[in-house]
Amino acid sequence: MSTHEGRVAVVTGASAGIGRAVAVALARDGARVIVNARRAELLDHLVREIGPDRAAAVPGDAADDAVVKRMLDTARDRFGREADLVVVNAGRGLRGSVYDSDPARWEDVIRVNLLSAARLLRAAAERMAGPVEVVKGPPKPPAPSVPPEDWIRRPRDIVVLGSTVGRHVSPFSSFYGAAKAGVHMMTESLRRLIGPKGVRVTLVEPGIVASEFQDAAGYDRESFGRFMDSIAPVLTPEEVARTILFITGQPSHVHVNNVMVRPTRQEYP
Ligand SMILES: NC(=O)c1ccc[n+]([C@@H]2O[C@H](COP(=O)([O-])OP(=O)(O)OC[C@H]3O[C@@H](n4cnc5c(N)ncnc54)[C@H](OP(=O)(O)O)[C@@H]3O)[C@@H](O)[C@H]2O)c1
Repeated sequence: MSTHEGRVAVVTGASAGIGRAVAVALARDGARVIVNARRAELLDHLVREIGPDRAAAVPGDAADDAVVKRMLDTARDRFGREADLVVVNAGRGLRGSVYDSDPARWEDVIRVNLLSAARLLRAAAERMAGPVEVVKGPPKPPAPSVPPEDWIRRPRDIVVLGSTVGRHVSPFSSFYGAAKAGVHMMTESLRRLIGPKGVRVTLVEPGIVASEFQDAAGYDRESFGRFMDSIAPVLTPEEVARTILFITGQPSHVHVNNVMVRPTRQEYP
């Protein structure tokens, strides 16, 4: 039996790059997938490629609460149960530091990388682990964490795409790196909260992956291309997808919770 048979997945940013490769790989390995991104026509094409019995599209901005809710509702309504594997992948880069990046793009970088991740992390966590008790007044000792009775049979995963530049300062994109550093913090803090309830919250930090990312970030094709050539071959989206499926394919009680995957010849960041 395929490792992901019977699982219901949601993948954001699935019209291109890593998200698309993850959606295809999950479906090939038996999962049903909800795919999200803004370009509806690319999602329709992907659904046809995977097969409409195994995939459905929810187009829209992943930073919009209504779209986040629609992704999770569609997974449940279309495939008969709540998603048990959510890949928080939608994101975009930005060339430069706080000093030399384009400030007109700052809000979008924070919105798509940090706020969209926060919204989906919260919504997915609520459905997988139950609502979080808001503590009013003096802090009380936390209630004992009890995982759902079927958690060993049925893994629950939230996988978040961070970046090597969220951990190591990048000469090319430190403003974007600041947003990813925030994503890293949110991911690890959520892991600590809901890991005891049987939900694996995993941070994957890729190095350089050849995708639409470089153009969207505004890297100069010539000089960044020279950098990519100097560490070639860089990663493909399919190689990152394989890493993610290795993680989500583990038995429920095994959590590979943080992975950095770089091209072998990339020494930094
Ligand atoms: N490539 C790298 O070197 C690299 C390295 C480290 C980490 N990462 C991270 O890995 C993730 C995927 O990157 P990638 O390389 O696959 O980039 P990509 O090829 O540019 O794909 C980005 C995806 O995100 C979608 N997207 C962008 N804004 C969105 C929004 N507001 N709402 C919904 N979807 C949105 C895009 O689709 P639409 O335009 O159709 O919306 C696209 O499907 C990102 O979080 C990125 O930061 C990438």
